[in-house]
Amino acid sequence: MYNDKVLEVFQNPKNAGEIEDANGVGTIGNASCGDIMKIYLKIVDDVIVDAKFKTFGCAAAIATASVATDMVIGKSVEDALKIKNADVVAFLGGLPPQKIHCSVLAEEAIHAAVEDYRSRASK
Ligand code: FES
Repeated sequence: MYNDKVLEVFQNPKNAGEIEDANGVGTIGNASCGDIMKIYLKIVDDVIVDAKFKTFGCAAAIATASVATDMVIGKSVEDALKIKNADVVAFLGGLPPQKIHCSVLAEEAIHAAVEDYRSRASK
């Protein structure tokens, strides 16, 4: 069902885990399967210096979270928000159609983590 690139990233995911002193944390649930994605961001001067994820999701969720967290590290918050799940899916060489909804989790959880960061910063 998955291409070789997806399987490779799924088997060797980067950025899995938790950031203890994260200053932006976002959790998103997948309405169609019930799985959860949690993204931790460490942001300094509006630049994402570290990103990690935890998920109960499937191989597609793990692979897309690995790629998405890699893509946002080193980017400004503004630029990170421009990364779409379609960019992540393209990087992976595609996903089966029934797995596209899984790739939305990382994008949405990154957005939620940025919102959390911004709400903490405005306090
Ligand atoms: Fe739930 Fe993929 S089936 S995240």
